[in-house]
Amino acid sequence: MSGLVKLTIQSELPPEGEAKEFTCGDKVICVANVNGEITAMDNVCLHRGGPLGQGVIEGNKVVCPWHGWQFDPKTGEATHNPKARLVVYDLEIKDGEVMIRL
Ligand code: FES
Repeated sequence: MSGLVKLTIQSELPPEGEAKEFTCGDKVICVANVNGEITAMDNVCLHRGGPLGQGVIEGNKVVCPWHGWQFDPKTGEATHNPKARLVVYDLEIKDGEVMIRL
């Protein structure tokens, strides 16, 4: 079932140019801030399961900390293979709370 659930509070979001991981139920979500735009996608790298929220942002991509695969945080696409695509999620920020649609 999909619905809007609380992910975190606005003050906990990553600063510009950084990614961060958040646990939400049984999922871990990678939240990225690219040029002030906040996006959310699955945290588990499609290569070997690296924690994307612990990676860095280069250009407008999240780089996996384990072996450097890069993902577009808006679409979830892997740079070198657009068919490898992470699930992305909608976020809504309201009254200081960050809600995610799972
Ligand atoms: S696990 Fe992410 S690049 Fe290998």
